[in-house]
Amino acid sequence: MNNKIRMFGVAILILALITAAILAVISSPANPLTWLLVALLVLMPVIYRKLSKKHYVEWKQEYSVGIDSIDRQHKKLIGLINNLQAAVNYSTGAEFEREALDELVDYTRTHFSYEEGLMEQNGYPEFAAHRAEHELMISRVEQVLAEYQKNPDTAMQNAIDFLRDWLINHINGTDKQYSSYLIDRGVT
Ligand SMILES: [Fe+2]
Ligand SMILES: [Fe+2]
Repeated sequence: MNNKIRMFGVAILILALITAAILAVISSPANPLTWLLVALLVLMPVIYRKLSKKHYVEWKQEYSVGIDSIDRQHKKLIGLINNLQAAVNYSTGAEFEREALDELVDYTRTHFSYEEGLMEQNGYPEFAAHRAEHELMISRVEQVLAEYQKNPDTAMQNAIDFLRDWLINHINGTDKQYSSYLIDRGVT
């Protein structure tokens, strides 16, 4: 859903709850429903925070590939995904969103080049397959960017969901496969 429409919907809902709670307190203060409404109103910020939190990614130790330099880059990628999500959640405007998206895409390319360099230098047997996966991701990202160019309002959340899911699956799957091979060759 368009983020501005979502924010507008939440504002209307809060306004309706405030009005209903005030009317209920005035007309029937002894009714338990009145206090249920008041409690719902008080809990709104917590509920909203919980709902929007599901879009953010938290680094977990299980994501570690055991190589410090790569773990640091993966953490930075997760941070950039969260920055982009925050730019969208708080409606910072098209310019900030675009900057955050570009930063994430640029750093993804930088990170892929770094990993590919390490795999190639160390003669990793699955290098070609891993690089092909990176290339597929880059071409999907280009499609996502083209879609975003055409329809910034609706394409942005799709773009973030795609980037987040792909990166986490890749970090937690394909990237882990090179861990022991590179660690055995002294990569840190
Ligand atoms: Fe990676
Ligand atoms: Fe990778």
